[in-house]
Amino acid sequence: MDPRVSIIDKRLQSVKRIIAVASGKGGVGKSLVASSLALSLSKKGYAVGLLDLDLYGPSSHIILGVPINRFPEEEKGIIPPDVQGIKFMSLVYFTEDKPSPFRGLDISNIIIELLSITQWGNLDFLIIDMPPGIGDETLDVINLIKKGEFLIVTTPSKVSMGAVSKLLMILKELQLPIIGIVENMIMTPSKYVKQHISCRGVPYLTEIAFDQHLEETIGNPTQLMKTTFMNDLDKIIDRIT
Ligand SMILES: Nc1ncnc2c1ncn2[C@@H]1O[C@H](COP(=O)(O)OP(=O)(O)OP(=O)(O)O)[C@@H](O)[C@H]1O
Ligand SMILES: [Mg+2]
Repeated sequence: MDPRVSIIDKRLQSVKRIIAVASGKGGVGKSLVASSLALSLSKKGYAVGLLDLDLYGPSSHIILGVPINRFPEEEKGIIPPDVQGIKFMSLVYFTEDKPSPFRGLDISNIIIELLSITQWGNLDFLIIDMPPGIGDETLDVINLIKKGEFLIVTTPSKVSMGAVSKLLMILKELQLPIIGIVENMIMTPSKYVKQHISCRGVPYLTEIAFDQHLEETIGNPTQLMKTTFMNDLDKIIDRIT
């Protein structure tokens, strides 16, 4: 067995809740939800960490405007730099945001390495920004992080729900905790997602309207906090805390 795997539990032992923001579908707003949720919880006084596990297309650092030119401090592991009160860890500190193509085995290796070297310390929440789909990263999170819970993001599209349904089926089959579904980028009212998940016993958490001013706030957390996106997302805080 990889000796690093046995360290992961120890690294996460002082983290109360671990929430993986996932979806079967790409481009539905996982990274925006993960980063904004971390930001919002942190501003409310919770101790929060954010781990970007989208190794092919990391983007949390872009959303939060994280400077990546400074390598994190080392002290018997790696100390996640403080970003807006959030302890933030991403592969971009190591790749300096250069293109980094990986094969499957590399992915698992990187995830094990990140989880075994990062010193999160005491956290109320560790939010994980997951890549799209049900690939190595999702399987690794399921296998390596025992107390992981899943927050699922979808758009109102039948195409998105088609992919999300498959992820829900797998999570249900493995009896993993699903906090619920966030329906993002709503432009016209529709009951499709609500109806679709009601028979699956998955909680519907909130709807987030399409926010045409969101793009202007990317990289600027202070402005991001003032968006209608954040206002809509904030409605799930009570369901999570
Ligand atoms: N409610 C919204 N209103 C307007 N734009 C949005 C909304 N949610 C997300 N976006 C935009 O949609 C794009 C995709 O969002 P994001 O990167 O968070 O998706 P993702 O699911 O993480 O994508 P990927 O699967 O590539 O990781 C971004 O440009 C983001 O700013
Ligand atoms: Mg993303």
